[in-house]
Formats: sequence, structure tokens, C-alpha cells
Amino acid sequence: MTRRNAAIIGVGSYLPERVLSNADLERMVETNDEWIVSRTGIRERRMGDESMATSDLAARAAERAIRSAGLSPSDIDLLVVGTSSPDHALFPSTACLVQAKLGLGCAAFDVNAACTGFVYALQVGASAIESLRAETVLVIGADMLTRHVDFKDRSTCILFGDGAGAVVLRAAVEPGVESIVLGSDGTGADLLKVPAGGTAAPCTVERINERQQYVQMQGNDVFKFAVRVIPKATVQALTASGHSVEDLAWLIPHQANQRILNTVEERLGIDHDRVFSNVEKVGNTSAASIPLALDDLYTSGRLQPGDLVALVGFGAGLTWGAAVVRWTMTGPEQGGLPE
Ligand code: ACO
Repeated sequence: MTRRNAAIIGVGSYLPERVLSNADLERMVETNDEWIVSRTGIRERRMGDESMATSDLAARAAERAIRSAGLSPSDIDLLVVGTSSPDHALFPSTACLVQAKLGLGCAAFDVNAACTGFVYALQVGASAIESLRAETVLVIGADMLTRHVDFKDRSTCILFGDGAGAVVLRAAVEPGVESIVLGSDGTGADLLKVPAGGTAAPCTVERINERQQYVQMQGNDVFKFAVRVIPKATVQALTASGHSVEDLAWLIPHQANQRILNTVEERLGIDHDRVFSNVEKVGNTSAASIPLALDDLYTSGRLQPGDLVALVGFGAGLTWGAAVVRWTMTGPEQGGLPE
């Protein structure tokens, strides 16, 4: 029997207009452009204004992805949104809000795997297609972590930006998503977390005064975790689909820190030119990072049909995931460059 695959047939992204530069951050905390660039590679990131929520960014990215696929919203029969910064703390899900904004007539739900959210959501979408439960799936990664970082904490507020990216998956006979490996290790949960605001520690005045409602991170340990897990997951996913690092046209890692990307590049022995990076201009956009980077690469015209691409994420949880995808889209003429 012919295997049914899930191919990426549309991609789109959206960045809010407001730029938050390193110079802006210099005015907020004791830091400087030189420190931020040398330790992270980030020069600027985007920040949604007060009228925007995660679902707004997600819907705009999704519109572009649907358009680039040459489809209309009525063609989508499942929506999965990877996010850890939903519009509402409990419910409704961000996916339901996106569904209404786009006028979709399908099931919609969120997946929370922090910065690995897009790869987890891709697994859900691809599995639905491979198991014949869906034909066309919209997969979005969207986050607004600038809402959740402490702009008094210089070790975290310099890292994060807002954004969204989306892909449309469709059933195909030719290869598409060839393999996905996912992993998690909750024993590392304390390395990166928002302590207050959930059932474990509801927001109280005391906790808010202690600034526990914001992202807290043990940066060094997260760095070590990232440079260990990205190469490992990449090789596992490549092996699962019968490939090796040499076969990769592009590695698109989660855009957290340029030093992480450089270390991963060394450990995998892959050419610098094949490791995509846009961290300089967007920072760490969490679940949006990988589809944003994918759209950036696609619209630049450097992604060719037949290219083998690895999408590799890591994040809070701890979580990680790698997907190996055979690129099939022909040209960027209909793709949407971030405005
Ligand atoms: N400006 C100036 N100095 C700073 C800043 C800043 N913004 N931030 C920290 N420093 C200081 C520290 O206070 C420390 O000073 P000290 O030596 O006097 O104590 C010094 O710089 C070094 O601090 P480190 O934390 O050791 O710096 P490091 O080189 O590890 O870089 C960083 C920190 C950039 C956070 C790095 O550890 C990192 O990128 N870690 C990975 C983070 C990451 O990828 N997170 C995303 C996970 S994905 C998700 O799910 C959200």
C-alpha cells in the first residue's frame, strides 16, 4: 500500500510592526548592545502593541500560509496552534480564536510545548493526515513572550520577541514530512518557567510583588541542554528517515541564541551556510521561531524543491523535537514576506 504523506504546501509568517532594539533595552535595564550582540547575536526583536494578542499574529501568519498554498479557509479541516502565551490563561484556546478570525469550519486546539510548540503541533498535524483523519491541516506557531518577560530582568528581557508562523499540510503521495522525533524531560522543569499564575501557585499580591508572574530562566543550564539536544534530535530524525547530516540542504534550528547555533553547527559538522539564522532581527520568538525562519528562507528564494530540511526545536518543559521535511513548494512568488 502506498504510504500517505503530509507535505507542506503553504507557508506564511507575521511580525508586529514595533521594533524593540538593543538601544531601547539599554534605556530599560543595565545592558548594552555590545553585550547582547556578543552573547546572543540579537540586534532587535518585535513587540506586539497593546491592541494585539497572540491569535491576531497567528491569524495573519495563517492567512498568508493559506494564500501561498492557493487554498481558501474552507479547505482547512484541522487547526493546531503551538503556543505557550495564549490569549487567555485557561480558555478559550487561542486556536478557537484563530478559527473564528479566519472563518474556518474545523476542529481547533492548542499544543503547549513552549519553544518546541511548532514541532509538536507539526507532529499532530502530520499524524492526522497520515492516519487518514484529515486532508488539509493548518499548523501555527505563535507567541508573544514580551508580555511575560520581566523588563527589569536583563538576563531574560533581551532575548524574546513576538511573532507567528504557519504552514499548511496536505495529504500527498510524494514525500513531505519524512520523520519527526519528539522528547521531553520534566526533571528540568525548573530551568525555565513562569512560577506564578497556574494551579501550583496562583497569582497573589505577594507573588506579584516578588515578580513570580514573569519568565525565569537558568540561562547557562538551558544553553548546555540546547547544544546537547539539538544535534542529538537532528541525527535521530535524519536516521529515522534514512538520511545523514550530509543530505541536509538546510538546518533550521529554534532561533534562541546565535552562540547556540554556532555550537550546534560545530557539533554536527555542518557548513555554516546551511544553518539558517534570522535571530539577529527577530530574537527568540518561541513557538513562532521555526515557521518564521522557514518562511524567511522560502521567501528569500533560497529553498528549492527537493531540498531536505531539518526543523529542530527545544524549550521549556524541558522539551525538544526534530522534523525532517522534503521541500516540495516551487517558488516564493505567492509567499508572504513579513511586513
Ligand atoms: N547585559 C549585561 N550583562 C548581563 C546581561 C545583560 N543583558 N545579562 C546578564 N548579564 C551579566 C550577568 O549578570 C553576569 O554577570 P556576573 O558575571 O557579574 O555575574 C554575566 O553577564 C554573565 O552572565 P551569564 O548568565 O553567565 O551569561 P551567558 O554567557 O550564559 O549568557 C544567556 C546568558 C544569553 C541568557 C545564555 O545563557 C543563553 O542564551 N542561554 C540559553 C537561553 C535560551 O536559549 N532560552 C530559550 C529557551 S526556549 C523556551 O522555551 C522559552
